Amino acid sequence: MRTLLVVFSLLLLTPVCAQQSTTMQAIQIQGFGDAEVLEIWEIPRPVPGPGELLLRVHAAAVNPVDTSVRAGRAGGLSGAQLPYVPGFDVSGVVAATGPGVDRFEVGDAVFAMLSLRRGGGYAEYAIVLEEEAATKPANVGHTEAASVPLVALTAWQTLFEVAKLQKGQTVLIHAGAGGVGSVAVQLAKWRGARVIATASDYNHDFLRELGVDVAVDYRTQRFEDFAQDVDVILDPIGGETQVRSLQILKQGGTLVSIVGLTPEGKNPSRDINVTSYLVSPHGEQLSQIGDLIEIGILQPIVSYRFSLEQGPQAHEQSQTRRTRGKIVFEID
Ligand SMILES: NC(=O)c1ccc[n+]([C@@H]2O[C@H](COP(=O)([O-])OP(=O)(O)OC[C@H]3O[C@@H](n4cnc5c(N)ncnc54)[C@H](OP(=O)(O)O)[C@@H]3O)[C@@H](O)[C@H]2O)c1
Repeated sequence: MRTLLVVFSLLLLTPVCAQQSTTMQAIQIQGFGDAEVLEIWEIPRPVPGPGELLLRVHAAAVNPVDTSVRAGRAGGLSGAQLPYVPGFDVSGVVAATGPGVDRFEVGDAVFAMLSLRRGGGYAEYAIVLEEEAATKPANVGHTEAASVPLVALTAWQTLFEVAKLQKGQTVLIHAGAGGVGSVAVQLAKWRGARVIATASDYNHDFLRELGVDVAVDYRTQRFEDFAQDVDVILDPIGGETQVRSLQILKQGGTLVSIVGLTPEGKNPSRDINVTSYLVSPHGEQLSQIGDLIEIGILQPIVSYRFSLEQGPQAHEQSQTRRTRGKIVFEID
C-alpha cells in the first residue's frame, strides 16, 4: 500500500516539476571582451525578493552602454560582476511577485528600465523592481515597448527635468536619428519646442517624419549656420561637437551632455548652463511615456530585431553607431 502511494505521488508530481523549471536561457558573459563573449547559457532563474517582480521577458533592447559594459569599459558606471547578464531594457509579462508588491500581479504586461548597477535583461526571465516598472502600452508589441525605456527616460530627464524645456523654445538635438535622439525629437515637439536636429542626409526624411523643423547634415554642413541663440542642446556626441555647441547657446541656455564634459564644457566662458547627466530608472515617468505611446504622440522606432543566439551581431550593429532608432532581442 505504502509503495503504491509513493508511486501515485510521484506520478502526480512529475509533470508539475517538469513545468516548474528553475533554469532559463540567457546571454551571460564569463569574461569581458569583444562581441563574441555574448554566449547563451542555461542558468538559474532568479527568484523575486521583497518589492521585486519576476518578468518573463519577451523583448530586450540593446543600448550603446551594453557594449561598453561587455568590453569592460564602463568604469564606475556599472557594478557588473562576472558572470554577468547584460541588458537594461525589457518588456514582458509578470511571472511571479515578491513580498510587498502591490501595483502589479502575475499576468500583467510591463516594460522597464533596469538599474545600471544590475542589468540582467538579455534573458528569458529578469528581476524588475516594482518602482522601475510601468504598464506596457497596449497598442504596441513587446519588441517596440522594450525599445523605449532607457532612451525615453534619458530624453525625458534631460529635456524636461534638467533643461526645463518650454513651449516655444528652440532645442538642438544632436544625433537625432539615434536611439536617444529619435525619442528626444518627438518629446520636444510634444512639448511645443522648435527642433533642430543633426543626422546624415540619408536620415533627413526620417527626421522630418518625426517632426524636426530643421535637419542638418553634420557631415557636410555646419550646424552653427542653422542654429543660433538656442535655448537647449542635447549632446550625445561630445568632443568637438560639444565645444562648438557651447558657442550657439543663448545666454542662460542649457547644454546637457550624456557622454561627459569637455574641458571647455566644464569651464564655460559665458553665462550658460552646462551639465553632464546619467539616466536613472523611473517607473512613474515611464508610465507617462507609455501613455504618450498609447495616444500616438510617441512612436517607438525599431530597426533591427535579433534572437538571443545573435548576441554578437546585435552588438556589432550597435557599435557601428549608424543605427536608426533601436536594436531589440526578441525572446520567445
Ligand atoms: N548618460 C546617459 O544617461 C546616457 C543615456 C543613453 C545614451 N547615452 C549615450 O549617448 C550616446 C548615444 O546613444 P544612442 O542610444 O542614441 O546611440 P545610437 O542609437 O547608437 O546612435 C546612433 C546615431 O548616432 C548618429 N551619429 C553618430 N555620429 C554622429 C555625429 N558626429 N553627429 C550627429 N549624429 C551622429 C548616427 O546618425 P547618422 O546615421 O544619421 O549619421 C546614428 O543615427 C551613446 O554614447 C550612449 O552611450 C548616455
